[in-house]
Amino acid sequence: MAESMQGLKRTHRCAELSGANAGETVTIMGWVQKNRNKGGLIFVDVRDRSGIIQVVFEEGRSDAELIEKAAKLRAEFVVAVVGRVEKRSGAVNENLATGEIEVIPETLRILAESETPPFPIEENSRTKEEVRLKYRYLDLRRPDLQRNLMMRSQVATLTRQFLAEEGFFEIETPVLIGSTPEGARDYLVPSRIHQGHFYALPQSPQLFKQLLMCSGYDRYFQIAKCFRDEDLRADRQPEFTQIDMELSFVDVDDVIDVNERLLAKLFREVLGVEVLLPIPRMTWQEAMDRYGSDKPDIRFGMELCDVTEVVKGCEFAVFKGAIENGGSVRGINAKGQGSMPRKKIDKLVSFVKDYGAKGLAYIAIQEDGTVKSSFAKFMTEEEMAQLVRAMDGENGDLLLFAADKNKVVWDALGALRLELARSMELLDKSDYKFLWVTEFPLLEWSEEQNRYTAMHHPFTMPMEEDLEYIDSEPGRVRAKAYDIVLNGNEIGGGSVRIFNPEIQNKMFEVLGFTPEQAQEQFGFLLTAFRYGVPPHAGLAYGLDRLVMLMAKEDSIRDVIAFPKVKDASDLMTEAPTAVAKEQLEELGLLVVKQEE
Ligand code: AMO
Ligand code: AMP
Repeated sequence: MAESMQGLKRTHRCAELSGANAGETVTIMGWVQKNRNKGGLIFVDVRDRSGIIQVVFEEGRSDAELIEKAAKLRAEFVVAVVGRVEKRSGAVNENLATGEIEVIPETLRILAESETPPFPIEENSRTKEEVRLKYRYLDLRRPDLQRNLMMRSQVATLTRQFLAEEGFFEIETPVLIGSTPEGARDYLVPSRIHQGHFYALPQSPQLFKQLLMCSGYDRYFQIAKCFRDEDLRADRQPEFTQIDMELSFVDVDDVIDVNERLLAKLFREVLGVEVLLPIPRMTWQEAMDRYGSDKPDIRFGMELCDVTEVVKGCEFAVFKGAIENGGSVRGINAKGQGSMPRKKIDKLVSFVKDYGAKGLAYIAIQEDGTVKSSFAKFMTEEEMAQLVRAMDGENGDLLLFAADKNKVVWDALGALRLELARSMELLDKSDYKFLWVTEFPLLEWSEEQNRYTAMHHPFTMPMEEDLEYIDSEPGRVRAKAYDIVLNGNEIGGGSVRIFNPEIQNKMFEVLGFTPEQAQEQFGFLLTAFRYGVPPHAGLAYGLDRLVMLMAKEDSIRDVIAFPKVKDASDLMTEAPTAVAKEQLEELGLLVVKQEE
């Protein structure tokens, strides 16, 4: 039967003990990691969130009753041990922070027994993620996840501290709000009192933080839960956390300045990594041209090269056709990959097809200078030589080309560049390369909706010098929007907001809102702006993504205590679940089965 803690007080966490405690009597509490019984000599590893300490029960040193009790211990039993810290008599364990000491027990209490867990609680578990997520409370006992969540807590604490010192107020905004159709799909919550009406869960605190600026709070922040009903990926969850902020009387540089100092502090204090300031900046256009991505990974080169002009006159139908359709031909040089086997090149060809490309043309320059190419037969020798020269092709290089509309070429080569970097092992997770991407296009043409949509959101300020094109060439207008990118991940984004009603109305017009629709959806904001709105700007980080990269993980699930899986369900609680008929009736809802 389980015993109680009564009278015992923990003096140390397991791994807080060291050689300096030798000779002291201590009380530790935790879980049994391992129990090795060598007959008359029992080694018990006790674990808590700090780490592990070895407790040694030995005939002669401990009485028989104590040894008998220790023999009953199984993995994950919860114990309290009172004992003396001693330098190890046996070999020092170099793999353990407490490897030079052990505890010789006087008292052992079994505070809770445990069934055999469905998987061992250990670092780098090879257990399938579905099983781990079903028993997430056990998974969370594993040291790697504990380290991640402790790091996340530290990041949140340091952020609060820093922003408070910079004059930001932490203000909560509501979670039950009105639905707005811009952006991702909303999660809806039915109202009982107003049947047939729904709240939406916020996709971000955007409108409220702008209202707080109208109210004069000047600098706001919040570590806010956000909800978006979108397809899940390794870096996307339906509910996630933002470090959200807004500042009054500022412009782009002010927001960037405060955030660079925040990032530098976080990386210094959490990882001991110095972020060199200022963080480099790149316009969206340059990012697309050089990296085929609006979140370039600048840890390595392999930049895109526009060879449209070079191949303009050639007879290769693929290149010719793309150029005639207003597209471009661009390539990347995979240095030293010229001897890549044909099969592997074919894999790259099918890889880019997932990104919309129709194919991938290549020139593989062998070490002896001879060339294997999928399209040489359509080119003159001189044209080939020019192309190789334009790509800085040397013996042993593999040159890869895509020809299509710009967007397709960027997407395909941008993704290919990352894929090659992965296979060439060019990516070092402890190399942190930050980049601001600025001057995003204000608008994006949506084929689906046959209209322009806001690339960031409808409150983003156009660049003053581009305002003249807003009617004639809306696609050309750049925005005062910026993303902060780390190692190819968008960890945050923000913008300067529109605070001029005429520009805001123009923006709604371009987005295809009638004045009535704009009023209906954002009326409170537009009205608020009539009563003296300060110039303001802000930014929000994806906290999960930031911590994922700091913890060198590949998925944000590894830095979220209770994440959801791909179909947006929770394997542990089994949410979402059906609800009782009465609950639905109360809400005036009827569930209609959709036809297959
Ligand atoms: P944005 O939509 O760019 O901006 O979101 C800000 C940051 O939040 C993170 N993020 C996500 N993280 C995990 N799962 C998701 N589904 C997810 N979606 C976004 C990203 C992103 O950079 N209100 C604006 C900010 C502003 O203008 O101040 C906003 O929400 O890291
Ligand atoms: P084809 O003439 O279709 O056999 O194509 C010749 C070569 O061009 C093959 O290696 C194709 O993969 C490649 N290719 C086809 N379409 C494109 C494209 N849009 N961009 C680049 N290469 C392409």
